[in-house]
Amino acid sequence: MVSAGLLKVIALSSLAAYSAFGRSVPKSRRDSAPSGFTLTGTASSDTPLTLKIALTQSNPSGLEEALYDVSTPSSANYGQHLSKDEAASYLAPTSETSSAVNAWLQQNGLNATAMNPAGDWIRVQTTVGQANELFGASYSVYVHESTGKQVLRTLEYSIPEEIKSHVTVVHPTVMFPKYSILSPVFSAQTQKRGLPRADASCSTVTPACLQGLYGIPTTAATESSNTLGVTGYGNDWANQDDLESFLSQYRTDISASTTYSLETLDGGSDPQSSSDAGVEADLDIEYTVGIATGVPVTFISVGESNNDGDLDGFLDTINYLLDQDSPPQVITTSYGDWEPDIDEAMADNLCNAYAQLGARGVSIMFASGDGGVSGVQDRDCTTFVPEFPSGCPYITSVGGTTGTNPETAVSFSGGGFSNYWATPSYQANAVSGYLDYLGSTYSGLYNASGRGFPDVATQAQDFEIVTGGAAEPVSGTSCASPTFASIISLLNDELIAAGKSPLGFLNPWLYSTAASALTDITSGDNPGCNTDGFSATTGWDPVTGLGTPVFSKLKTAAGL
Ligand SMILES: *[C@@H]1O[C@H](CO)[C@@H](O)[C@H](O)[C@H]1NC(C)=O
Ligand SMILES: *[C@@H]1O[C@H](CO)[C@@H](O)[C@H](O)[C@H]1NC(C)=O
Repeated sequence: MVSAGLLKVIALSSLAAYSAFGRSVPKSRRDSAPSGFTLTGTASSDTPLTLKIALTQSNPSGLEEALYDVSTPSSANYGQHLSKDEAASYLAPTSETSSAVNAWLQQNGLNATAMNPAGDWIRVQTTVGQANELFGASYSVYVHESTGKQVLRTLEYSIPEEIKSHVTVVHPTVMFPKYSILSPVFSAQTQKRGLPRADASCSTVTPACLQGLYGIPTTAATESSNTLGVTGYGNDWANQDDLESFLSQYRTDISASTTYSLETLDGGSDPQSSSDAGVEADLDIEYTVGIATGVPVTFISVGESNNDGDLDGFLDTINYLLDQDSPPQVITTSYGDWEPDIDEAMADNLCNAYAQLGARGVSIMFASGDGGVSGVQDRDCTTFVPEFPSGCPYITSVGGTTGTNPETAVSFSGGGFSNYWATPSYQANAVSGYLDYLGSTYSGLYNASGRGFPDVATQAQDFEIVTGGAAEPVSGTSCASPTFASIISLLNDELIAAGKSPLGFLNPWLYSTAASALTDITSGDNPGCNTDGFSATTGWDPVTGLGTPVFSKLKTAAGL
């Protein structure tokens, strides 16, 4: 967020576009700010502005090939994950790109800092006046009505001719922040109440329920190098007292003082007063520490000092992780956005960054969304709305189920097909099987050649959590992603203990060796956009993916 004090609002004056720096090529524009934002005026030209600039990545298709090579069980190189430098080298700009951009920066008196090991993102400190000139932009001050936050954005920008083939995204420009995405959907019983009894019946979901249902071991993991990262955004913080109450009620077999470690970026924090406890963060921490028994869990609290929320925060998070020599082997994120609301070049860039981390052996889980076929949350729609980053083929998207005997799809489970990414080969058979079943139903409402999601599912309704000192049941695919991530962490613990590689990018394994280690969910659907949504059926479906985990079978599929 740009702090209010920095912004001097002046009357609109003539704007110097396409100035002395040569011809520019229009890059991106929008007609108006998204609803919820009000234009308050142009920003004064001396206002400091930090731009994040994405440089053309040298070899994303080589990275994709390398990712599949180390993640596909039938490949000779399965499990031979890339080093940090090897993975980064695929996305590092070519020397031609670096010299063109450096010459242009120098000519304009600007310095760049690399934002990650590949150097495909650079940060440049400039002013509104200079950025307006360089990018044919018209930076203005917009206020986000419900939060009062102010941001600097332009409705259009251009790329100077001399660097146009070397720059893919300039941020912030036309992409506005969202501030609140994919938080848990609360069940009808939102009143806080006393703690229910811990039982394995699954009348509401507790660790005992999930352990019984999926055969998750309760014995402690042993490998201290095997960590699970939980990302947190939007000032939604995890609370240690809540975790302790949760464990003392639901995990009486382990120490109630078992806790998580904290990492922060962009000025993130984790304040511990009861009123600071966040429902999302408490849920994510309680169902990782409480399910991945003995696995070191890290809460990565992303603040907003260098970003304007959500996607910008996602960018800083992945760059932060890529910069680490030993990132967590598993990452879970219960936030997301509507794919069409994101600039495609930005989405593509982030997706390639996930591929880079995956090639290094990290399993990346995202919740599939809580709006059924309308995406991340309910919204008015005439065609189905895919969710980002679930549409990215290099992450594992986790949908939701409810009930037992049999489990069925939960109605809010986000699922569908990307418009940005084509069906990857690892799921081609699974998706074509579903499309055959679907026939002409919903023709024109979804993209039959897109990447289908979710990949897998777990329970997602009525999870008992403790937050702000009281018990509360919550629902959403926000419950499912940490649950599935915990199971993967427990498998990794055993793999590492056996001297084997962690699972890394999961999908090629899930759709081949591990497909029969999942319980196929064959009933329920995910309504949205005034339709009944897709139906779960035999085989993969865009509601529950391949199904829900069976721990013992997954162990076998992992070679344990
Ligand atoms: C760029 O970096 C050089 C060397 O560190 C420094 O002297 C100069 O002031 C910097 N320029 C800007 C615009 O920050
Ligand atoms: C459908 O997906 C394909 C493959 O990703 C893409 O090329 C195409 O543009 C998408 N169609 C629409 C209407 O977005």
